[in-house]
Amino acid sequence: MFAETSIGPKNLIQPFFVTEGKNIKDPIGTMPNVFRYSIDNLIKEIAIAAELGIKAILLFPQITKDKKSADAKESYNMNNLICRAIREIKKQKFDIGIMADVALDPYTLNGHDGITDKDDQILNDETIDILCKQSMSLAESGCDVIAPSDMMDGRVGKIRDSLEKNGFYNTKIISYSAKYASHFYGPFRDAVGSKNCLKNSSKNTYQMDFRNAKEAISEVGLDISEGADAIIIKPGMPYLDVISLIKKEFNIPIIAYQVSGEYSMLKIAGENGIFDTNQVFIESLISFKRAGACSIITYAAIEIAKKLIK
Ligand code: PBG
Repeated sequence: MFAETSIGPKNLIQPFFVTEGKNIKDPIGTMPNVFRYSIDNLIKEIAIAAELGIKAILLFPQITKDKKSADAKESYNMNNLICRAIREIKKQKFDIGIMADVALDPYTLNGHDGITDKDDQILNDETIDILCKQSMSLAESGCDVIAPSDMMDGRVGKIRDSLEKNGFYNTKIISYSAKYASHFYGPFRDAVGSKNCLKNSSKNTYQMDFRNAKEAISEVGLDISEGADAIIIKPGMPYLDVISLIKKEFNIPIIAYQVSGEYSMLKIAGENGIFDTNQVFIESLISFKRAGACSIITYAAIEIAKKLIK
């Protein structure tokens, strides 16, 4: 009766890792109960998510080494893994939105989100041209939401322009606006296979400094002015202050991302009997809503949705 906050499957977004092949369900060592699925198996998982009332999924590809290149050209190949996956999912007519990550890290040889010069420095504007092409291929394949996670300056506006110019007026942009250079992404980089490429190189020339909160206000403001429909803040739990700050400053839907390292921490602790995993997940997901997020991207979405509808 008196609870200020509630949560249901409609507030959860399930990320999926997609891989080549048939009938593949490949476990990820650093993320218990998370798998890389071939497209046929992915469809079965999405059916479960849709049935539970989850409203969106978020796709990430594991790209084979031979398709990675310095210019990341596989990222906009209409027949790349993600575009094929989107077309197959769309055929099923599930009542679920498809979001796809826009960034070059699965496709570059050095694992960076953009293309780089000979000193490994990011080329911001050249990268944006490729991100626009990547977004177009995704939109043409049927993607509902473009989610740029690359953190290049000015990319939301340019992606919006390309979508409009090509008639994709209804494709949404939900941008990762406040994305911090975080070590909590470690397990994700195992999952997509960018960790070995990245080696010890950091992303802190383009992702945010975790010592800064106010800087998030300018990052979010820019993305809104460039045409973002909603924004993502990530990581999640160590950044609840940022969610709450952005909620006070702007009237735009906020999505929190409970990232791979957070997921694995809770999951592995639970598996070791340190606490009740489901209860801890529900508590953590409620904390995002309390802070001001309307939805949460979490690898535990399907698992927790099953508990929430009971
Ligand atoms: C890639 C991307 C990352 C995540 C989402 N998109 C990793 C990174 O920036 O290195 C992290 C998600 C997670 O850790 O769950 N641009």
